[in-house]
Amino acid sequence: MTDLTTLLSPVTLGALTLPNRVLMAPMTRSRAGADNAVLPITATYYAQRATAGLILTEATAVSPQGVGYPNIPGIFTDAHVEAWRPVVDAVHAAGGRIALQLFHVGRISLPAYQPDGALPVAPSAIAPAGTTLYGPDFTPGTPPVPRALEASEIPAIVAQFAAGARRAKAAGFDAVEIHGASGYLIDQFLRDGANTRTDAYGGSPERRARVLLEITEAVAKEMGADRTGVRVSPENPFNDMRDGDPRATYATVARLLRSFDLAWFEVVRGTPAVTDAIREAYQRPLVLNTGFTAEEAEAAIRADLAVAVSFGAPYIANPDLVERFTQGAPLATPDRATFYGGGEAGYTDYPLLGAVAA
Ligand SMILES: Cc1cc2nc3c(=O)[nH]c(=O)nc-3n(C[C@H](O)[C@H](O)[C@H](O)COP(=O)(O)O)c2cc1C
Repeated sequence: MTDLTTLLSPVTLGALTLPNRVLMAPMTRSRAGADNAVLPITATYYAQRATAGLILTEATAVSPQGVGYPNIPGIFTDAHVEAWRPVVDAVHAAGGRIALQLFHVGRISLPAYQPDGALPVAPSAIAPAGTTLYGPDFTPGTPPVPRALEASEIPAIVAQFAAGARRAKAAGFDAVEIHGASGYLIDQFLRDGANTRTDAYGGSPERRARVLLEITEAVAKEMGADRTGVRVSPENPFNDMRDGDPRATYATVARLLRSFDLAWFEVVRGTPAVTDAIREAYQRPLVLNTGFTAEEAEAAIRADLAVAVSFGAPYIANPDLVERFTQGAPLATPDRATFYGGGEAGYTDYPLLGAVAA
């Protein structure tokens, strides 16, 4: 059996002390109510996974305008706070820690989701090519050319993230993660394939990073920087994303984030050259993600390339992932057909190791 003692050892991320370095990566499961309030089943789902060093929740919208998928949760009403509180309590009762991932979809939406059926908003009027979305009633649709945000509208969006953090705190979350990845609003500002602005929010990497920095500052003020994380995915093409020079863009983002002293900076890795440039610019420990096995995570942490690793798909079918790593037990394979939407099937019914043996 491989030695995983480093991966399974405690670590401090900002104000949080984690019993191990196995994080649950954020994963949308589309099982909230139509009003974007999570349902009781979500408490069961996350509590089953409470042995993770830290649970990062599914992306959660900070405003109605920030919604672009059916049945995703929100954190923009007091009812959302009440709906999330039992989820947080269930994870804490099971001995775990949980951070809420805050997002705004930007152009990855349909008018059917938008207040007054308006166009989705984005840094620039560029539609994501080759993207199909599903409306509130699961009817497929193509995201339209979005409306480019006026610079004067950006403070209100920053304020939505701050309000989301404030509500997350009220619901009892241990921390929040700002979703700057996967082609959503913040990522749309970061990468030049989606941002062709000529004002203070476009052009150089510094200017494209401005929205992320303003949001980070506002969220950290609410939550404490030591309870705030940021996620980026520099080379992930999902949602028709691209950047002319990801190395320069994200080394700049990393350098500018450094001074916040965040609890963590999670990087969805691409080519080693880009991840290395981020590490060099950031000069603090990273959380890494994507395609890691336990052995590779152990090696990355031992080599000081990461302080922890987040696991996505493995957590869907293995609620007791930490226990399986500890025992060197085989991992179950998740069923893709139940990733998004539905109820218990493929959500809360994956058995624990002991149940499998029995
Ligand atoms: C079903 C599913 C939903 C996901 N939803 C989100 C999300 O809401 N926010 C996010 O940042 N990443 C999301 N991701 C990406 C994962 O966090 C992670 O980056 C990806 O699964 C790669 O890690 P892995 O190889 O360990 O699975 C999702 C992935 C999957 C499989």
